[in-house]
Amino acid sequence: MADFLWDNRHYFVAAAFAASAGVSVYCTYKLLNYEKDRKHRDNVYETQKMLNEYLVFHYGSPAEVLRWDFGPKEALDFPRRVAEECMATFQPKEGVPSRALDIGCAVGRTSFELARKFEQVVGVDYSQNFVDACNQIREDGHMDYEVVDQGHLTTQLKALVPADIDRSRCIFQQGDACNLPLDIGQFGCVVAANLICRLYNPFDFLSRCESLVAPGGLLVILSPYSFSEAFTPKKHWIGGYVDDDGREVIAIETLKEFFDTNFVLVKEKEMPFFIRETARKNQWTVSHASFWQRKESSEKA
Ligand SMILES: C[S@@+](CC[C@H](N)C(=O)[O-])C[C@H]1O[C@@H](n2cnc3c(N)ncnc32)[C@H](O)[C@@H]1O
Repeated sequence: MADFLWDNRHYFVAAAFAASAGVSVYCTYKLLNYEKDRKHRDNVYETQKMLNEYLVFHYGSPAEVLRWDFGPKEALDFPRRVAEECMATFQPKEGVPSRALDIGCAVGRTSFELARKFEQVVGVDYSQNFVDACNQIREDGHMDYEVVDQGHLTTQLKALVPADIDRSRCIFQQGDACNLPLDIGQFGCVVAANLICRLYNPFDFLSRCESLVAPGGLLVILSPYSFSEAFTPKKHWIGGYVDDDGREVIAIETLKEFFDTNFVLVKEKEMPFFIRETARKNQWTVSHASFWQRKESSEKA
């Protein structure tokens, strides 16, 4: 027996080594999955409540969103108006790709509307739930959902993409604006609507903008600048605080400094929006839209 053990000692060593390697691979795998599940659970944009609120925000008719004949009607249909502003400001030019990126696309209305003009639209969102909804709407052209009227009382609604939009021009993928894949390519138009104050590090995204937007292309950033530590650690805020020198840091000024070398600010606009929470409780917010055209290399100082 002792001889047998001695002769096969290398097999035992190899088996022990393989077992411990297997255990550590398994533990790493479990740890990564745990981390992924935790992020999924903690992400407010993964909840059914948010999915329903964003479906009505993006696809609800004016009467479905605001049931009163008073109220801020000009704040309705924000995702469609965002796409219209992008398409009106974009200047097609040779060499500028007919591709748009809707980063933080939520449930996709702006992406579908951009497909009226752009041959390809890529919608990216961190929320898998939102991306799944986008893909279902792309496939079927519609999606059923419900909105809360009061308490547990709800109304069934249907999200519909207008029939004259070619949905096959859109692709949707889950992704992180702060860590976009390098092979995502360049775009003629990049729009980030109400995104930058929801990112864990907006500077990571802003740093990618130069490589995302083709020379001559358009970058559109909309934000109510509602910075909150619930989404962004304070050290990464682009505005909304007093710095160590006692100077107020204002987000649009940070954007101007940040984009000064590579972009020209071509337009600014106030864009209100209205999010229905229940039949009687709603959010009215004003987003600031800034439109940046990427300089051609000959334009740079
Ligand atoms: C305030 S919502 C705005 C959504 C949409 N653009 C609109 O105007 O309705 C912010 C969106 O950004 C997404 N988001 C948050 N962090 C993100 C990240 N790191 N990368 C991509 N999307 C992100 C959220 O899932 C959510 O859909």
